Amino acid sequence: MATATTNAPRREAFGSRNVFILSAIGSAVGLGNIWRFPYVAYEGGGGAFLIPYLCALLTAGIPLLFMDYAIGHRFRGSAPLAFRRMHRVAEPLGWWQVLICVVIATYYAVIIAWAAMYTWFSAQLVWGEGEEQSFFFTEFLQMGDVGKGGVSTQFVPQVGIPLIGVWLVVILIMALGVKRGIGRANLILMPLLTVMFAVLVVQSLFLPGAMDGLNAFFTPNWEALADPAVWASAYGHIFFSLSVAFGIMVTYASYLKRRTDLTGSGLVVAFANSGFEILAGIGVFAALGFMAQAQATDVSGVAASGIGLAFVAFPTIVSQATGGSIIGVLFFGALVFAGITSLISVLEVVVAALQDKLGWGRVRTTLVVAIPVALISIALFSTTTALAVLDTTDAFVNAFGIMAVALVAVIVVAWFLHRLPVLREHLNRRSSLRVGWFWMLLVGALAPVVLGYLFVSELRAKISTPYEGYPVWFLWIFGWGMVIALVVLAVLLALLPWSRRSHAKEDPDYDEFLVEEAYQPDAETGAVSTVPGYMTPDRTSNGGRA
Ligand code: ALA
Repeated sequence: MATATTNAPRREAFGSRNVFILSAIGSAVGLGNIWRFPYVAYEGGGGAFLIPYLCALLTAGIPLLFMDYAIGHRFRGSAPLAFRRMHRVAEPLGWWQVLICVVIATYYAVIIAWAAMYTWFSAQLVWGEGEEQSFFFTEFLQMGDVGKGGVSTQFVPQVGIPLIGVWLVVILIMALGVKRGIGRANLILMPLLTVMFAVLVVQSLFLPGAMDGLNAFFTPNWEALADPAVWASAYGHIFFSLSVAFGIMVTYASYLKRRTDLTGSGLVVAFANSGFEILAGIGVFAALGFMAQAQATDVSGVAASGIGLAFVAFPTIVSQATGGSIIGVLFFGALVFAGITSLISVLEVVVAALQDKLGWGRVRTTLVVAIPVALISIALFSTTTALAVLDTTDAFVNAFGIMAVALVAVIVVAWFLHRLPVLREHLNRRSSLRVGWFWMLLVGALAPVVLGYLFVSELRAKISTPYEGYPVWFLWIFGWGMVIALVVLAVLLALLPWSRRSHAKEDPDYDEFLVEEAYQPDAETGAVSTVPGYMTPDRTSNGGRA
């Protein structure tokens, strides 16, 4: 057998496939599942929303998750390196994803810091009953009058100090590496999160009025299905929720052993993520049902979205329910754990990319990457204007970052570089579920149409009305300016040279793997191929030697 002689540093790896699966679930299950899904589903027709949701999951979420896995695992690199090895022109796509992750990491961390403080506040019941809203906006965030579009540098210590704490924890995990840091953190936090969440859901189901909440959540409003915006929100949500097109799954798959069942792992991750999401919907709406009954109103009157749901509605439930403190500690604690496992995956995209590009060691890269990102995060989000900046960057980076990069990536990979057959072949090498022409059709045809539609409708909406009424100059800096800067910077970063140690043109161990593969029994037939030309099809279709 051929032996690869290379001076390439050994790529870090997860301890086992199960740790990879747990880490991928840890990345997918995040703030999006716990507070975003319940409201998106409720707004999108309750029980009837499950139809667009399942369509989005099966036709776009899972097929693109497979594509991410295939790119990361076949080309064995961080997002920019994997795209570079696929073809030189594709490298900026990887950097675009890296920069999107930088932006997301800066604000994601501050929501975890708020949740950490609210875990503590719930135990003490610090907000006065009926004062939950003013407590959050005025006392805690100290938003004052600068809420809508002003910018201040006034430091808010009760936000800034826990935010520094979140960054220290995350930097420590990252510096320990893939196996000892990321893998181990997920091994500890994910089981804890699952238990906490299960207890929370059961406890919510026993609250008086819980059934009204569940009725409101599950009663299908079939008319909503005729609204294209409902379908758009289902597709938009699936991307964020599954962590698809951020570069995360490309990076994580590059840490998998060569011989791995990729599609089987992907299905476990996708269904675990959806299971968590639906459980979150049940728990949150059971609690909202209680709140509606306590306030003698309808569930529609208390169902709030995003930040309002977590930091205003939930504290109200905590004040009013018997054993409310426990509900609060479980809910906010779950947000912290789910958030941390997602934040480390977001940051890993950035660390891995720089590590590959510069050929540096783990600790040095982590410090050089994470400290500036942490400083930006602390500077922007521990001030009295944090909420307006967070709201704007989140809306723009989702619409014109994640969705846009997904759209460009499927077009480039499928139509310009014609790499879907190579990726399909790679997925099918060791996988339990084999993908065929239908997968290529979903990724190459349906995904670009759906994503293109979503992109154009978002563009029209955001151009026609200034987002949330913020001043135009403010939107130009934190919205439009930020998303345009990401694209320009991505192209510039792609122009910088790679460290020689990274073997930017091809994974130096790949040939050895192919030869070894040839002597492995076929997954389906059990036949052993000894044909020397086994390598030919993949090598000729690769073309990644630009
Ligand atoms: N997938 C992660 C979430 O849902 C980013 O929050």
